[in-house]
Amino acid sequence: MRIIGTGSCTPLKIVTNDDLSNIVDTSDEWISTRTGIKCRHISEGETSADLGTKAALNALDNAGIKPEAVDLIILASMTPDSMLPNTACRIQEKTGAVNATCFDLNAACSGFLFALNTANAFLTSGMYNTILVIGAETVSRTIDWSDRTTCVLFGDGAGAVVAVSDNSKKYTAVTGSDGIKGSVLTGGGTVLKNFLVNSDATNLIADDYYMKMNGQEVFKFAVSKVPECIRQVLDKSEKNVDDIDYYILHQANVRIISSVAKRLHVCEDKIPVNLHNYGNTSAASIPILLDELNRAGKLKDAKNIVLSGFGGGLTWGATFMEL
Ligand code: COA
Repeated sequence: MRIIGTGSCTPLKIVTNDDLSNIVDTSDEWISTRTGIKCRHISEGETSADLGTKAALNALDNAGIKPEAVDLIILASMTPDSMLPNTACRIQEKTGAVNATCFDLNAACSGFLFALNTANAFLTSGMYNTILVIGAETVSRTIDWSDRTTCVLFGDGAGAVVAVSDNSKKYTAVTGSDGIKGSVLTGGGTVLKNFLVNSDATNLIADDYYMKMNGQEVFKFAVSKVPECIRQVLDKSEKNVDDIDYYILHQANVRIISSVAKRLHVCEDKIPVNLHNYGNTSAASIPILLDELNRAGKLKDAKNIVLSGFGGGLTWGATFMEL
């Protein structure tokens, strides 16, 4: 696989840590020191499809190809606009990618990595040739804005890449999931509210609609699993830690990123960070960072990159790519 274009889009509205300290008992000092986050972009009505569409169009423009050339759109999102139609189809309509087959994929914050792996498998099989892989989220819709333990962490946004087949480029991935630990990070209102079987079902917003998280458990999981799966993918790719130009990690918490750098003995210059501007944008975080690096010209001389993420499910993964 080769990435021939990148794009991203974030809502215009910026919410600072000080803004949040007006609605919950928190402070810029607490949020900055515990997470590294300074502000986040929050949708004022843009949906995941709106943000994903802009990111996709930017990626197509960057690749220099027309929407009609795309034959598959995979959208990674845990915040789709609707279950029906899927949000990738909404993006197809808005981008004019009329020849594409479209589906959504949800693996929370690992979603973009899983979508990229899916794209790679389709490209390798020859089933599709030009694939838009998008991560788009409006996490702000799933946040309980009175819960200071989660509301300070997340933001909205979208990132996209155009991927095409190229057998000369090595692509290796490892992934994993642990459904037994799923309860440490939940959301999405899955309780059955059906008047046919439950006459008390007066409220369509289920009790578990909002995101709930055991932050310390997620932290411990991330700081052990991310370096472990990066080592695994390096072994599988027959590369050393130093062979990698950039480690593009899911942007959740700067302390997690520093811990990964330390555990892998990687200089932090090789691990770019932008979470101070965006917070955790879930499946969008890796493609937004990729797009920033690309547009800053930093990928021009880079040969090898590793992407790695983790998230609800629990899910995790690491991918080695030759550029
Ligand atoms: N502002 C001020 N105080 C806060 C706060 C906030 N926004 N959120 C929590 N606190 C308080 C807690 O209530 C607790 O108070 P107490 O000691 O009086 O009980 C104290 O701060 C410490 O809380 P704790 O949970 O131990 O903090 P922490 O150092 O573990 O940091 C996280 C919390 C959420 C930042 C951290 O655990 C984390 O980043 N976890 C991973 C989350 C993540 O990445 N999720 C996304 C996965 S894709």
